[in-house]
Parts: sequence; structure tokens; C-alpha cells
Amino acid sequence: MDTGKTFLLIGGSHGIGLALTQQLTARGHQVIVLSRTPGGVQAMPNVTHHTFDVLKDDFPAEVLPAALHGLVYLPGSINLRGFSSIKPEQFRDELEINCIGAIRCIQASLKTLKQHAGSSIVLFSTVAAGLGMPFHSSIAAAKGAVEGLTRALAAELAPGIRVNCIAPSLTDTPLAEKLLNTEEKREASAQRHPLKRVGSAEEIAALAAFLLSDDAAWITGQILHADGGMSAIKS
Ligand SMILES: NC(=O)c1ccc[n+]([C@@H]2O[C@H](COP(=O)([O-])OP(=O)(O)OC[C@H]3O[C@@H](n4cnc5c(N)ncnc54)[C@H](OP(=O)(O)O)[C@@H]3O)[C@@H](O)[C@H]2O)c1
Repeated sequence: MDTGKTFLLIGGSHGIGLALTQQLTARGHQVIVLSRTPGGVQAMPNVTHHTFDVLKDDFPAEVLPAALHGLVYLPGSINLRGFSSIKPEQFRDELEINCIGAIRCIQASLKTLKQHAGSSIVLFSTVAAGLGMPFHSSIAAAKGAVEGLTRALAAELAPGIRVNCIAPSLTDTPLAEKLLNTEEKREASAQRHPLKRVGSAEEIAALAAFLLSDDAAWITGQILHADGGMSAIKS
């Protein structure tokens, strides 16, 4: 089992990122978390948190170690709106947090990621990028860009750095709170999935931990669908 590695998690303090921080530290890894608030990682052993807003702040290059084994970019959005009511600036905002933020963090960390052969980048898309869903145009456009970035970067950075992307469906995190805050909403969301429930942060984090590990050493350029069967099965 690989252990003793150092990972950078942008958005490792809440939701899927927090679950991933917990799983990585439990395996003996060091985690550097960048986010606006420390959330669940405050005083967690083997974690250093640095306050960083990807939409406002310069990337804090001084917090990077000499070498990084992996980077995960988690900030994202869920804004479901009718296409006609979305202003171009709102499309731009979604692109900014989901894709341009990731680009800035990867560019700033590339030199340190290159210090380890086989380091790994994990990005996040959504089921709605690959499956057309009403009221999802702004997030689908932004995450479609993330999926294109994943494949192009995987090609450009091979063989030294692997780049993959996870496309979840609805997952029980602070981001999805508004969609899951009543029993009725939770049940309706569960019924839309072939596996009849929404995802958990721990399940999605486990897939990210796998992609960061040496067990995934022959996987790059992939969009992995962790979505209760939503993207592939008609139930
Ligand atoms: N949950 C779902 O249903 C779902 C479904 C499909 C795709 N996804 C994707 O999965 C990824 C993770 O989602 P999640 O549900 O775990 O989200 P989350 O609960 O909102 O957590 C996001 C993390 O990013 C940080 N963050 C947010 N804005 C930031 C900013 N401007 N600068 C720096 N850090 C920022 C947050 O910490 P702070 O707030 O302290 O900054 C938090 O640690 C996202 O890309 C999302 O689009 C989620």
C-alpha cells in the first residue's frame, strides 16, 4: 500500500473534499488544504490548512512543498435555472469557479507535481455534463469545459502526471443542501437514480483516493461516472 505521500486539496475542508482529507490522512498521507474556511479540518493531524479564495486570491505558492504527489480541485457550484433567465455573466461565474480556478491552481503547482513520476490530478465534473438535463445549462457548460481540460491535460502531461475527472450525480454535501433539505426532496432525488438513493461524500472521496493511488497507475484521461447508474441505465 502506498503511504507517506503529500497531496494538495483545493476545497478539502467540507463535503467530498473533507471526506477525502479524512481518508488520505487515515492512510498515513499528509494533506495541504486550501479553502476559504478550515471547516472540518481544523486541528486535524497531518493536515495544514491555508485560507485561500480561488476567485479572489493569488495562489499561495509559498505553501507548496518541494514535491507533490497529487492535486484535487473541489470548488464547484449547483445553480439550476432556465436557460433564458441566465445572464452571460452567470455562465462566466460558473466557468470561473469550476474550471478557471482549477486551471490557475494546476498551473501554479505543475513544477512541484513534476517532481514525482506518476503524480495524479483529480478534477470534478457532474452527471449533467454527459447527460442532457433541463435547467442545467450553466453547470453543464462549465463542467463540459472541465471534462475537455481533463483529456487535453492528460495527453499533454503524460507519462509523468495522470489526469482524471469524477462526474458524480447528486451527493449529500453542503453544496447539495438546498436540494436535499426535506424528506420529500431527498426521496424524489433518490427515485431518479437506478440505485434509488443519492451518493455520499465518502463514496465519491473513495474514488478520488483510488485515482490518487498507485492502484490507478494505468488510468489517465478518464471521466469516471459515480452516479447511482444515472448516466448509463434507464430505470
Ligand atoms: N454534491 C453534489 O451533489 C455534486 C454533484 C455533482 C458534482 N459535484 C462536484 O463535486 C465537487 C465537490 O462538491 P461538494 O459537494 O463536495 O462541494 P462543497 O460541499 O461545496 O465543498 C466544496 C469545497 O470547496 C471549497 N470552496 C468553495 N468555494 C471556494 C473558493 N472560492 N475558494 C476556495 N475554496 C472554495 C469549500 O470550502 P470553503 O467554503 O470553506 O471555501 C469546500 O471545502 C464540485 O466540483 C461539485 O461541482 C457535486
